[in-house]
Amino acid sequence: MKVQGLELEIMGLLFLFVISMFVRTGEAESKTFLINCGSNASVNVDGRRWLGDSAPQTNFTVSSGIVASDSSFNGDLAYASLYRTARLFTQSLNYTFKGATGNYFLRLHFYPISFPAYNANESLFSVVANGLKLVSEFNVAGEISAKRSHSESSGSNSSAVLIKEYFLTVNAADFVIEFFPAKGSSGFVNAIEIVPVVDTLFVDLVNKVGGNGAKSSLDLSKRGIETMYRLNVGGSDIKASQDELQRMWGVDSGYMLTANAGAEIKNRSSVTYASDNQTLAAPLLVYETARSMSNTQVLEKMFNMSWKFEVDPGFDYLIRLHFCELEFGKANQRIFRIYINNQTSADHFDVFVRAGGKNKAYYQDYFDVVSPKISTLWIQLGPDPGTGASVTDALLNGLEIFKLSKNGNLASTETFGLKEGNKASRSRILWAGIGAGIASIAILAVLVMLIFSFSKRWRSERADAKNSSPGWRLFFLCGAITNGTDKEKGYLGIQNPVGFTATTRVGRWFTLAEIKAATNCFDDNLVIGIGGFGKVYKGKMEDGTRVAIKRANPQSEQGLAEFEAEIEMLSRLRHRHLVSLIGFCEEQNEMILVYEYMENGTLRSHLFGGKLQPLSWKQRLEICIGAARGLHYLHTGSERGIIHRDVKTTNILLDENFVAKISDFGLSKAGPALEHTHVSTAVKGSFGYLDPEYFRRQQLTEKSDVYSFGVVLFEVVCARSVINPSLPRDEINLAEWAMICQRQGSLGNIIDPQLQGQYSPESLKKFAGIAEKCLADEGKSRPTMGEVLWHLEYVLQLHEAWLHANAGENSSCSNHMLQVNGTPDEGKAEEVQQAARAVENTGSSLKMNDGE
Ligand SMILES: *[C@@H]1O[C@H](CO)[C@@H](O)[C@H](O)[C@H]1NC(C)=O
Ligand SMILES: *[C@@H]1O[C@H](CO)[C@@H](O)[C@H](O)[C@H]1NC(C)=O
Repeated sequence: MKVQGLELEIMGLLFLFVISMFVRTGEAESKTFLINCGSNASVNVDGRRWLGDSAPQTNFTVSSGIVASDSSFNGDLAYASLYRTARLFTQSLNYTFKGATGNYFLRLHFYPISFPAYNANESLFSVVANGLKLVSEFNVAGEISAKRSHSESSGSNSSAVLIKEYFLTVNAADFVIEFFPAKGSSGFVNAIEIVPVVDTLFVDLVNKVGGNGAKSSLDLSKRGIETMYRLNVGGSDIKASQDELQRMWGVDSGYMLTANAGAEIKNRSSVTYASDNQTLAAPLLVYETARSMSNTQVLEKMFNMSWKFEVDPGFDYLIRLHFCELEFGKANQRIFRIYINNQTSADHFDVFVRAGGKNKAYYQDYFDVVSPKISTLWIQLGPDPGTGASVTDALLNGLEIFKLSKNGNLASTETFGLKEGNKASRSRILWAGIGAGIASIAILAVLVMLIFSFSKRWRSERADAKNSSPGWRLFFLCGAITNGTDKEKGYLGIQNPVGFTATTRVGRWFTLAEIKAATNCFDDNLVIGIGGFGKVYKGKMEDGTRVAIKRANPQSEQGLAEFEAEIEMLSRLRHRHLVSLIGFCEEQNEMILVYEYMENGTLRSHLFGGKLQPLSWKQRLEICIGAARGLHYLHTGSERGIIHRDVKTTNILLDENFVAKISDFGLSKAGPALEHTHVSTAVKGSFGYLDPEYFRRQQLTEKSDVYSFGVVLFEVVCARSVINPSLPRDEINLAEWAMICQRQGSLGNIIDPQLQGQYSPESLKKFAGIAEKCLADEGKSRPTMGEVLWHLEYVLQLHEAWLHANAGENSSCSNHMLQVNGTPDEGKAEEVQQAARAVENTGSSLKMNDGE
C-alpha cells in the first residue's frame, strides 16, 4: 500500500511537471512573432522560422503597404532570404499582433535594398508601438552611415543592416506597430521580431548614479526602453544565435578611451550565475571575458578604465554592468570605484563579495539622468582612494546602456547630429552625400579602367601569382616608387574587399608560398621579434635578398587595423631614416608585411641587456640624429604631418652601417589639420615613453613624439630600461629619475659606464639639455623635432671637434682623466667654438636655448 502511494505521488508530480512545461512553452511560443516583411514565403534564418507577412496569417494582420524585393541582394547570405524583401509604405502602415499581453523585446530590421521607383536611402518615417513613439523623422541610411563611421573608426565590423531593439510592456490585448512616412516621403521595414521575456529582466528600483545608495523607480509598466549599446567587454562579438533572447553583443575596445589601460582576461572554466534569477541577463560567454586594469605591477594605478558613448541628451538611462571575478579566489583582492558621467556610482566595489565568489556571474544596474545639454555618457572604473594601492584594480565583463522613454517618446530630437526643424541643412547634407556618391562612382569608373588596362599586363608578368588571386579581388598598378632594393616591377595597390579607399597601397604582392619559402614555413628559429601585432621573422627571398617578415596574429583585431595603417603610412612615405616596406601578402586570412632587413636589429639591443659591442658616443649621436631626422620628416614631410605615437628604442632599427631607421607605423595617426592644434584620440603607445600631457588630455600633437624621443635620448646615455620595477621607487621610471638627476646636475652618476672617458663633456651637457627640453611637462614648451635635430647635430660637431683635437695626442690614461673632468685646453676650446659657430651659421633659427 505504501509503495503504491509513493508511486501515485510521483506520477502526480510528473503529471504536474509535464503540464507546467506545456503551459510554459505553449505560452512563450504563441507570443513569439517573427515576420519576414514584404514576402509570402516563410523562411528559416538563424535557426528560427520567419513568417511571410503577405501570406494569410492567423495571429497578426498587416494593414497595407507595397511588397518589394531585390533579387540582386549581395549582403550577408545567411540573412539574404530575410533582407532581400521589405514592406514599403507611402501611407501609414500598421501591424497588429493579437493576444500579446506581456513583456517583449521588439526588434525592427532595416536593410536599405534597392526598390524600383523609391529611394530607400531617402526614406523618412516614424514608428509608434502601442502609443509609444520609437523613432521620428527616421532615415535609415543616415543612421547606418553614422553607425558605420563610428565602427570603422573603432576598427570593428560594420554592416549594412540596422536593427533597432526595444523592450516594452504590452498591457492591452493587442500589440500594434504603426509606421508613418513623413510628408511626401516613404519608408520600409524588412523584418519584425517580437520575443517574449517571461522572467524578470529588469527590476523597478535601481541605484541612482551619485545618489549615495538612494534608489530610483524606473516605472517600467508605463515606460519603454531602447537598447543603445550592448557590449561584451574584453571579448568578441556574440551572435543572436548564441543568446537565449537573440541579443547581439559587440566589442568594447572602440569605445575605450585608453585602450591599453585595460588588459583583456579570459576564463573558460566553470562560470555560473550568482543567482537563479539572473540567468537571462546575459549569456555566460559575456562573463567569461573581461577587462582589468593593466600595468598593475609597475606603477601605482593613477588612471581609470574609461568608455565613452554617444547618447541622446535629455533622457533617463539605465546602465547595466556585468561582472564576474575570474582571477581572485578571495575577497579584498580587487576593489574599485565606478563613475558614471563623472559621478560616483559605487564605492569599494568588490566583485568577489557582491557575487558571492569567484567565477560567479553577476550584474548591477544604475539609473542616470542625462541633462539636455549633454550627449555623452562616460563609464569609468578606477582606483578607490579609500583602499590601499595593492588592491586598486578594476574589472568589467559586460555593459549595456538602455534609454528610457519620456512622456511616451523614445525618439531623439536629434537625427544624426541635426536638430529637428533644421530640414534645409539636412537636405543639403543629403545632397552633399549624393554628390559624393557621384564623385565616387566617377573615381570607381577610372579605377576600373585602370584595372582593365593593367591587369592583362600584370598577369602575364606574374603568372605565378594567379593562384593567389581570388576572383573578387581587384588589382591596379599605381605610381611606381623607386626603391633600389626592389628589382621586381610588380608594384600593386590592392583594394580591400569591404570597399574602396581612396588611398593607394604600394608595394610588391607576395604569394603565401613565397613567404613560406622565405621563412622556412614560419620556422620559430627565425623569429627576430614579437610584438602586439604578431611575430617578426628573418627571411631570405629567392633572389637572396634578406628581408624581415612581419606576420599578423590572426586573432588580433587590433592587428588588422594596424596592418592597414602601416601599409597606408609606408606607402606614402619613403625616407632614408624610415624602414621601407618591400611588399605584403594577404592570402588565406594571413596579413604579412615584408620589410627591408635591418642587419643590426633594434637600438635597444645595443644599449643594454645583450652581449653586443657597446656603441661609442659618436655612434650613439649619429643614431639619434638619424632617428630625429626620420621623425622630423614624418612630422613635416606631408601636408598634414604624421605623428608616430610609439617612439621608443625598440622601434629604432639599425642597418648594416648603423644607420638608424624608424619603424612600426601601426599606431601612427595623421596630424592635426591646420585649423586644429591636436588630434583627439585614444591613448596608445608604450608605458615609460608616454607623454603625460597626452595621457591626461587625450590630445595628440607632434610634441608627444618629442616627449618620447626625449626619453629615448636619456635611455641612450643611461643605457637602462625606461621602466625598471626592481629599482628603488624614485628610480623606476627613467624619465622621472633622469630629470631629477639632470636638475641636480648629477646626471654624470647615472650615465652608461661604457661611455666613461669616451665623450666630450661639453657635448654630453648639451645633449642632456636637449633631452630635458623634450621632457617639458607641457607640449608647447618642448622644441620641435627640427629644433632637436639641429641641436643634436651641433652636439655631434662639438664631439667631433673634441675627438679631432685629441687625435693628435696620445690617448693616455691621464689624458682621459683630464677629459672626463671637462677641462680641455685652450686649443680644443677654440675648435669647439668654431664648430658651434659653424652650426649656428646654417641659418636655422634656434628658439630653444642651449640648456645652460
Ligand atoms: C534575485 O534573487 C536574489 C536573492 O536570491 C534577490 O536578492 C534579488 O532581489 C532577486 N532579483 C530579482 C530580479 O528577482
Ligand atoms: C576617474 O574618473 C573620475 C570621474 O571622472 C575622476 O573624478 C577621478 O579622479 C578619476 N581617477 C583617476 C585616478 O584618474
